[in-house]
Amino acid sequence: APFRLDDYTPPSFRIDTVNLDVRLDKSATRVAARLAVRPEPGAPSTLELIGDELQFSGLKLDGVVLPPNRFTVTPSLLTVIDVPTGPFTLEIETTIDPSANTKLMGLYRSSGTYCTQCEAEGFRRITYFLDRPDILAVYTTRIEASKDEAPILLGNGNPAGQGFIPGTNRHYAIWHDPFPKPSYLFALVAGDLGSIHDNFTTQSGRTVDLRIYCEHGKEARCLYAMDALKRSMRWDETAFGLEYDLNVFNIVAVSDFNMGAMENKGLNVFNDKYVLADPNTATDIDYANVEGVIAHEYFHNWTGNRITCRDWFQLCLKEGLTVFRDQEFSSDMRSRPVKRIADVRTLQARQFPEDGGPLAHPVRPEIYHEISNFYTPTVYEKGAEVVRMLKTILGEDAFRQGLDLYFTRHDGDAATIEDFLACFQDAAGADLRQFKLWYSQAGTPQVTAKGQYDAANQRYRLTLAQSLSPTPGQPVKRPMHIPIRFGLIGPNGGDIGYASASGSRVAGDVIHLTEASQTVVFDGVTSRPVPSLLRGFSAPARLAIDISAEDLLFQVRADSDPFNRWQAAQTLAMRNLVAGSAARGPRAAPADPALVDALGGVLDDDRLEPAFRAQVLQLPSEADVAREIGENVDPDAIATSRRQLRQAIVASLGPKLLAIHSALAAEGGFTPDAANAGRRSLRNTILDLMVASGSRAAIGAAVWQFETADNMTDRLGALAALCHAALPERKAALDMFHDAYRHDPLVLDKWLTLEASVPSPETLDRVKALLAHPSFAVSNPNRVRALIGSFSSANQTQFNRLDGAGYDFLAHFVLDLDQRNPQTAARLLVAFRSWRSLEPGRRFKAEQALQRIAATSRLSPDTRDIVTRTLA
Ligand code: ARG
Ligand code: ZN
Repeated sequence: APFRLDDYTPPSFRIDTVNLDVRLDKSATRVAARLAVRPEPGAPSTLELIGDELQFSGLKLDGVVLPPNRFTVTPSLLTVIDVPTGPFTLEIETTIDPSANTKLMGLYRSSGTYCTQCEAEGFRRITYFLDRPDILAVYTTRIEASKDEAPILLGNGNPAGQGFIPGTNRHYAIWHDPFPKPSYLFALVAGDLGSIHDNFTTQSGRTVDLRIYCEHGKEARCLYAMDALKRSMRWDETAFGLEYDLNVFNIVAVSDFNMGAMENKGLNVFNDKYVLADPNTATDIDYANVEGVIAHEYFHNWTGNRITCRDWFQLCLKEGLTVFRDQEFSSDMRSRPVKRIADVRTLQARQFPEDGGPLAHPVRPEIYHEISNFYTPTVYEKGAEVVRMLKTILGEDAFRQGLDLYFTRHDGDAATIEDFLACFQDAAGADLRQFKLWYSQAGTPQVTAKGQYDAANQRYRLTLAQSLSPTPGQPVKRPMHIPIRFGLIGPNGGDIGYASASGSRVAGDVIHLTEASQTVVFDGVTSRPVPSLLRGFSAPARLAIDISAEDLLFQVRADSDPFNRWQAAQTLAMRNLVAGSAARGPRAAPADPALVDALGGVLDDDRLEPAFRAQVLQLPSEADVAREIGENVDPDAIATSRRQLRQAIVASLGPKLLAIHSALAAEGGFTPDAANAGRRSLRNTILDLMVASGSRAAIGAAVWQFETADNMTDRLGALAALCHAALPERKAALDMFHDAYRHDPLVLDKWLTLEASVPSPETLDRVKALLAHPSFAVSNPNRVRALIGSFSSANQTQFNRLDGAGYDFLAHFVLDLDQRNPQTAARLLVAFRSWRSLEPGRRFKAEQALQRIAATSRLSPDTRDIVTRTLA
């Protein structure tokens, strides 16, 4: 049966303290849990504790072994009968096999290291528990293991003792976490690990010991993460007044991890790809990701840990807010406009298709079958956009007052979205009832804008309308509160003034669109303006505006909002790509002069930072175009159109591109800072374009750059250019790359990704062959995502092969993986989410593949849920 938000009931029992004694063993780890249970008034006489694949080995109540008639037990449920009405103690013993745990939830082993993942429902795989986030307990953990196998023993909170077991080769460590926390924040790690050490003094003078643990030999690759951690700690103090609260902060990098990272109290566990970085193995994007994820997990200490979620429907309470915070951090560390463009690109590439397809769900879902499937772009990225809109609507000061109130009022609570919004209503006097629809209505609103200038009366009328299509379970929608940041661009390029704005809610540079349709009348507008709407992408909406190519070109040149300069160039390019996909011509049409002028102007403008210029030069992806077209999609036609447009751009701008490429030549050694990363980004974007045009000189330059680069960004940039153009030169280079990094799995993921991304009919067979390659491992989620995930979500033409072989391959692989790791299997299946918008032939083949999965009897709840909703 599904879980529903409306069914929430407070727990009948509380658990105030948890004492865990974990005796680690490769295949038979013994967990002794002592729980201080406190029945609430009116609690029932039976207590049900949830388990998952547990082996029960003993139970005492208040120190007395319980007779068999006082409890029943299965691997997934322990029911204690006739419990006292006052507080009592339960002692539960379970045995678990970490080596056999291929789901990577609960306690498992990664490269010999014991580690845990408990969010969302992994703690029940360690011991029987009230495994729900509104049960907050103080944990003390004793970890015992062999000294040789696990010299390092880590838990939540502060260290509280350690010692040896006399006469054995075993030792133990005790950890105490004074902050009450939900079970999903529990963690332990034990293994033979290297580490780097540093410290941080908080603004109130607390010295915090910082340590990052990793595989021996990789310590130097943790230095950047440590630097990012210290910057995150300082930033949270200055930006939000939030200070760290324990004496130690530990981070552990593990190589087998289902997601990105996990914010366990005082002991963050990371997918190693978000910790390890050095110039030879990490690209600039990897560096930025490490910085962002380190910050994200650290920021959870307040938004997630000190204030947690009442139930899993409230997931966006911690994730949306924390993504917003990490985006702001990165914006302060790097270029704000470029970060905004990158974030919006991700939102549009991942969240918009989710919102527009069968898996659409509200930012705060109201029903779920399997919570693991709701760690989605909607909950995370759209959740962050909702927080950003709140800031836009309230203004900086009121937003900050609301947040301050949230941190004081709810510290130590398991809270809800209602609690969160009430803080802004109370601190800022805002009425957020309509705004709250952003949390409950799924789908991307469409905003239609129409402007009309009346020269005689110096009047500009702007009519805005909003609509929201039906989504699963939500046939009818209500108008939302959409903040539209705007400007009216005058003939000189600056924003033109106006005497008054009437007929609608305009406050400063924001139009508050709250009705289905609204007209704003601007009086005293002395010449025809070009409207610049949704500046900075002030709402996660699609904007449809009747605007000429000349006006878009003007916007690219003149808009004072850098985001909208980028957006205008993308819109111009998108129009060309959509038209080209419909035309299906064998030859490239000459490039649209407005687009060439727009790109040329941006390239020439030295005042624009290189990273921004690179963003403008990166045209909408094939998937972006498919989404824009929306129905009857033919991925081959889109790929052809995109290739032809890129060739036409090079035909017009080639000399300029070359000149900029050489003017940006690297000087000095590699540094990962944003300015230098931006230069590399522009150079590699140009190289990619030139290589795609088929120029022999450019191909030669790419091969040369690949062979001589002194950093991974440039090496991979060159190799990617050869792969994306499916050039024969790629093969030797890919082999060389593999051989050079054969001992570095994280770098080999880049190789797998490129192999899977080549837009060539050979690729599917190559991907199948690579499944048997020694560098691939089906047990490792990073390898799986690099090879299978890239093929199915980044290689539009080959995954969507006309013969359906791409779909069959994914279906087959998912069924296989589902037996081992349901979470990762279900995630791969999301590649089918837009199947209904394909042209009929492919649509039929995709549906057949999905039906085949649905007809399989032994599906995990995770995969069953995705396939059912995808087909519904
Ligand atoms: N809370 C983690 C984060 O920082 C995500 C962990 C989710 N893990 C899972 N297996 N569902 O976003
Ligand atoms: Zn998070």
